[in-house]
Amino acid sequence: MDIQDIKNRFGIIGNSPLLNRAIDIARQVAPTDISVLIQGESGSGKEVFSHIIHQLSTRKHGPFIAVNCGAIPEGTIDSELFGHEKGSFTGAHEARKGYFEVVDGGTIFLDEVGEMPLNTQARLLRILESGEYIRVGSSKVQKTNVRVVAATNVDVYNAVQKGKFREDLYYRLNTVPLRIPSLRERKEDVFLLFRKFIVDFADKYRTPGVQLTPEAQELLADFSWPGNIRQLKNVAEQIAILEKERTIDATILRRYIPSEWSKSSLPVFVKDQSKEDFSERDILYKVLFDMKKDMVDLKKLVVELIQNGVTPSSFDENSQYINQLYNEVNPVTTQLYPREEIGVTPTIIHHPSANTPSSSSNYVTLDTQDAEEVEESLSLVDKESDLIKKALKKHKGKRKAAAQELGISERTLYRKIKDLNLE
Ligand SMILES: Nc1ncnc2c1ncn2[C@@H]1O[C@H](COP(=O)(O)OP(=O)(O)OP(=O)(O)O)[C@@H](O)[C@H]1O
Ligand SMILES: [Mg+2]
Repeated sequence: MDIQDIKNRFGIIGNSPLLNRAIDIARQVAPTDISVLIQGESGSGKEVFSHIIHQLSTRKHGPFIAVNCGAIPEGTIDSELFGHEKGSFTGAHEARKGYFEVVDGGTIFLDEVGEMPLNTQARLLRILESGEYIRVGSSKVQKTNVRVVAATNVDVYNAVQKGKFREDLYYRLNTVPLRIPSLRERKEDVFLLFRKFIVDFADKYRTPGVQLTPEAQELLADFSWPGNIRQLKNVAEQIAILEKERTIDATILRRYIPSEWSKSSLPVFVKDQSKEDFSERDILYKVLFDMKKDMVDLKKLVVELIQNGVTPSSFDENSQYINQLYNEVNPVTTQLYPREEIGVTPTIIHHPSANTPSSSSNYVTLDTQDAEEVEESLSLVDKESDLIKKALKKHKGKRKAAAQELGISERTLYRKIKDLNLE
C-alpha cells in the first residue's frame, strides 16, 4: 500500500514531507512486531498512527485496544492492564481479566505512556521482554502475545532524566521512534486541513461553506497552533456554526484565533504587571547576550587586524574606537583606558614578549576560541548596577534619559538606584 492509499484509507489530510515520512515509517514498521513509540505534540494526530500500525500488521484480525494511561488512576491501572484476582483489594468482588490478557494476539495502544506510574512501567517492561505478567493479587505467571504501540506528547527522554520514566523501558519502547510533526512544521497542510474540516462541519450542521481570502489563508498558516490539528478543527467548527459572512478575511478570522497568538507564529512574551522585575530581567539578559555577541565579533576582528600586522599608528587617527579596542587587547596600554571605560574584559593570552607595541609581530595573541568562552560575571545584580551606572554616566546623571535608554520606567530606576545603593 503506498502512502497516498494509506492517507485515503485512514482519512489523513496533508502532503508535507514530515507527514509523509511519518506515514512511511509507520507503513514499514507495521508488519514487524516491534514496539513503536509515537511522539508528537498534543492534537498532532498520533492516534491514527496506532490504527495504521495495527491495520497494516499481521495482527489486523486480532483485537485492538486503546488505553489512555493518563486517565486511569494510579491505584487501578495495574488491575486494568494486567487484571486482578478476586479479593485482591477492597471492591475486587470478582476476578477480572486485564487488557493485556484480552488483547492476546492483537495490539494495545498505550496513549500518554509518559504518565504511567513507575511500578506499572516495571510490569510493562516484563511483558515487552518475555510476554509474562501476573494479575494483581496472584502469584501465577501468565503469558500473552501483544504488540505494544505507545504514544506520548511529553518529552519522555526528559522524564527519564528526571527519574520519572524507566530508561530501560524507554529504549525498549523506542526501538522505532515515530515523530508526528506539529502543525507549525507543516504549514503547507494547514489550509488543506481547514478546508476539509469546513466542508465536514458545513455538512454536519447544514450551513453553507465559506471562502478564505488570501490574507486569511496566510494568517492561518502563520499561526502557531499550539493545540495543533485539534485546535484547527475547533476553529473550523466555530466558524462553520457561528460565522454569518461567507467570505472570511483576516479580520474575521482573527476573532476565532486567540488574540495574543494571532499576530505572529512566535511565542509572545506577555507582560505581567505584577512581575515587572522579571520582564526587566529578561530585557537585561537580552542586552547582555547581544553585548556579548558584539564583543566576540569585535574580538575576532581585532585578532584579524593584529594578525595582519596592523598597529595603532596605522589606524586612522580619528578612529578612536579601534584604538580603544587595540588597547583593550594590548596589556601594555590598557592603563590608558581603564576597564570601566571600556566595560568589557577580554581573555588575553599574554605573549611572553608582548611588552612593546612596536614589535608588531609579537603582539598579544588572543585566542578566539577562548575569547568566546570567556564568562564575564553574569550576576544580574552586578550587571544591573553596571548598566545603570553606565546609563547614568552617559546621560550625565539625568535619570529620565537613563531610564529610557535602559528600557525601564523612571520609577523603577529610582527604586533600583536605591536598592542597589547607587546614590
Ligand atoms: N492528518 C489528519 N487529517 C485529518 N484529521 C486529523 C489528522 N490528524 C489528526 N486529525 C484529527 O485531529 C484530532 C486530533 O488528533 P489526535 O487525537 O490523534 O491527536 P493526538 O496527537 O492523539 O493528541 P493528544 O496527545 O492530545 O491525545 C482528531 O480529531 C483527529 O481526527
Ligand atoms: Mg491522543
